[in-house]
Amino acid sequence: MRQPGIGQRPSSPCIRAIVTASASPSPTGTSPDDRPDGSSGDTIVIDARNLTLALGRPPARTQILRGIDLTVRQGESVALLGPSGSGKSSLMALLSGMERPTGGSVSVAGLEFDRLSEDQLAIARRGRIGIILQAFHLLPTMTALENVAVPMELAGMAKPFARAEEELTAVGLGHRLTHYPSQLSGGEQQRVAIARALAPRPALLFADEPTGNLDGATGAAIMDLLFARHAAAGTTLFVITHDPALAARCGRVIALADGRIVSDNAAA
Ligand SMILES: Nc1ncnc2c1ncn2[C@@H]1O[C@H](COP(=O)(O)OP(=O)(O)O)[C@@H](O)[C@H]1O
Ligand SMILES: [Mg+2]
Repeated sequence: MRQPGIGQRPSSPCIRAIVTASASPSPTGTSPDDRPDGSSGDTIVIDARNLTLALGRPPARTQILRGIDLTVRQGESVALLGPSGSGKSSLMALLSGMERPTGGSVSVAGLEFDRLSEDQLAIARRGRIGIILQAFHLLPTMTALENVAVPMELAGMAKPFARAEEELTAVGLGHRLTHYPSQLSGGEQQRVAIARALAPRPALLFADEPTGNLDGATGAAIMDLLFARHAAAGTTLFVITHDPALAARCGRVIALADGRIVSDNAAA
């Protein structure tokens, strides 16, 4: 089964998730150390204007997003709900810089994505944006510790292995550092993926149905962990889910249908 909305596209979500996880400290002052209360007031982290996305060639061209306007402030937790095929993963791909819109503009942490080249965008995303997908996308030949540390090492971050160990311990895997993915349960593999996304301390964490491959109890534990890390690190959390109970835990719930926002409980 494909990762909805992303897997069919030319770029590899695995590589992109790993590149995104590679990070240098954010130059935007988004270190959790700067935000002891877990938020920083009115700082806008996502500013999307009239985003549209059309994919495919005529006559099979599909209008997937039909004009999305969205502002998200630092420290918010946002749930994105909507039926399958409504464009949730596509919107996340645009907001996280994994994909370019057909029209409109998106700024994240003050960076105007559409003004950046692919290389500039890749660098700009490092340390600002973490991504967790339904599939874990761990590298099978690397231990848990290496899966978290190596992307940071490749990005030239300081003390990648110490940071990786710290983050793996925070997600409850301090006793599994040298295990390979095949030696870990699904829930444990998703914890490694979460640690990989969070270790660079991103300002923004996107999660696309992060519990979709897990049983109910394991999924609930993973969501508890995501919310705990969101609270502890002050990371803005943007989570795509089908689960109304999970959405209810978020400070804000946005519903998408047929490529449009149809409700947003934070809308003015
Ligand atoms: N590469 C593609 N080309 C054409 N249509 C696509 C492509 N990828 C996804 N779609 C279509 O875009 C719509 C939205 O997909 P997606 O963003 O994955 O929705 P969701 O995550 O809400 O299930 C779906 O109708 C899907 O079939
Ligand atoms: Mg999807």
